[in-house]
Amino acid sequence: MKTLLLLPGDGIGPEIIAEAARVIDRLRADAGLELVTETALFGGCAYEAEGLPLSDDTLARARAADAVLMGAVGGPQWAGVAYDKRPEAGLLRLRAELDVFTNLRPAYCYPALADASTLKREVIEGLDMMIVRELTGGVYFGKPRGIETLENGERRGVNTHVYTSSEITRVARIAFAIARERKGVLWSAEKANVMEAGLLWREEVTRLGAEAYPEVALHHILADNCAMQLVKNPKQFDVILTDNLFGDILSDIMAMLTGSLGMLPSAALGEEGTPGIYEPIHGSAPDIAGQGIANPCAAILSLAMALRLQLGRPDCAERIERAIGQALADGYRTPDLLAGEGCTRVGTTGMGEAILERL
Ligand code: IPM
Ligand code: MG
Repeated sequence: MKTLLLLPGDGIGPEIIAEAARVIDRLRADAGLELVTETALFGGCAYEAEGLPLSDDTLARARAADAVLMGAVGGPQWAGVAYDKRPEAGLLRLRAELDVFTNLRPAYCYPALADASTLKREVIEGLDMMIVRELTGGVYFGKPRGIETLENGERRGVNTHVYTSSEITRVARIAFAIARERKGVLWSAEKANVMEAGLLWREEVTRLGAEAYPEVALHHILADNCAMQLVKNPKQFDVILTDNLFGDILSDIMAMLTGSLGMLPSAALGEEGTPGIYEPIHGSAPDIAGQGIANPCAAILSLAMALRLQLGRPDCAERIERAIGQALADGYRTPDLLAGEGCTRVGTTGMGEAILERL
């Protein structure tokens, strides 16, 4: 039997993971889903209880699981905590320890939400794309890093943007394979014009494409231009491969391409047979935490990705995605989603309920 470790975390995390747990219960009851779920502390709540955002025990349980479903971590109450003990540091450590170097961030614009963006309907309607973000390298992890005081009393903050060829090719391989399955087109985004690591990225991706994926049309784009093009005409893209930092930024743009940050799931994957981390892209949203109004769709869609990619139940994933599409089509809207005429305003459990009814 497969095991899924739930890490609800901070802020709205526990509220949305509770809805994902209800979906799991329902699939156990009427789809024969055989899945063991466990729950552990992670992030700020773990720091409060255990002095660390990610304890060795939680890490061991994550390693032993088939997959990890995370809510969100962080909040203003931990802004003063030492950098390496912050909730976000726990997330980065979990990613590094599980070596989940590939982050799949799909953006799908549900037909019912084509009017929910500040962008025009025709720009985003029908959008279905994927950002493949490198997740365990680059400036997030590069050394040296830190804040030092210079002899003249000035302070100096340092981070290092660094990639090796193997770090680039292992994630590029996945992106090429996904592009081949989809439309046969891959866009690779970096800043080869100003960064050596970007130039290496471009060269390695080009070489790999020519050697192993000649059937995939490869295009290179500078990351700043990519940001502009994503807003101007997102449907020109299908699969975008990019590094850790650019991927973080470019994937937030997808929120406006799909109607809301509350709609975006993600999957962080390592080598075959190792547990992936599935998490909504939105953060812990401390401003609305505890109010019962957070959108649970991204968390439930992340569960669907886990069921499809690692828990052996693509049928359950499809049921979830269809149920969410139906709930949206039937007009259910959490406050983050623009509600037109005839829509029903619901909170977190209300949206969860609407999805369960359609499962
Ligand atoms: C994300 C988040 C994280 C990141 C933070 C919470 C560390 O913004 O997953 O996009 O920067 O990777
Ligand atoms: Mg981010």
